[in-house]
Amino acid sequence: MVVRICKDTQAMGKAAAALFVALATEKPNAVFGLATGSTPVPTYSEMAAAYQAGAVDYSGITTFNLDEYVGLAPDHPQSYRYFMETNLFKHINIPTENTHVLSGLATDPEAECAAYEAMIDAAGGIDLQILGIGNNGHIAFNEPAADFAAVTHTVQLTESTIEANKRFFDSVDDVPRSAYTMGIGSIMKAKKIVLLANGAAKADAIKAMVEGPVTPECPASILQFHPDCVVLVDEAAASKLSK
Ligand code: PGA
Repeated sequence: MVVRICKDTQAMGKAAAALFVALATEKPNAVFGLATGSTPVPTYSEMAAAYQAGAVDYSGITTFNLDEYVGLAPDHPQSYRYFMETNLFKHINIPTENTHVLSGLATDPEAECAAYEAMIDAAGGIDLQILGIGNNGHIAFNEPAADFAAVTHTVQLTESTIEANKRFFDSVDDVPRSAYTMGIGSIMKAKKIVLLANGAAKADAIKAMVEGPVTPECPASILQFHPDCVVLVDEAAASKLSK
């Protein structure tokens, strides 16, 4: 695991976007693993800016998103499909059929999760996965006490995550209580991972992830065992690291 401290969120976004642009250039049919949340937004803006500047072609890329709320339709403004359309897909030249987000409206959750995992494998696996981290150390919706071997599955959200995500909904009661998520096992199969975190609220999670024991209590700590994981943080998120 390599930790790099960036000047600010803009610099973090530029650095992460540069990895995706370089990959798309070197491997035009690369598979991107994408995430939602506030953290990757500057990365997606930079990826779109590179396309608009004619510096990259995303037409052969395939994407898989980490997770989706159970019960939200693709056009629900808080669904992760909607987030991806708004923040990235509609600004670049990726064909819609190449973009994959779990369906919040799936009628057979188990089949949806199994088919999703199989699709990732059939696409050759994820070349570059972007991740955020929760204040409690979660990655995607893999909450503390996560099963490190799990593949795509359904999870109940913790109170901490519901609290953190309520800012996007009219009220806390509107936050879905469950979600579909790639498992830690799915994420660890990605060939390269870039995890981003900014702000003091993430400092404890970053310290636990980088310097703490590898434990299901901090799901992100498993990334210490990933062979190619880059962590991009700002000063505030890095403030509790001892080295
Ligand atoms: P955030 O969420 O980017 O909105 O902070 C990250 C996460 O919970 O994984």
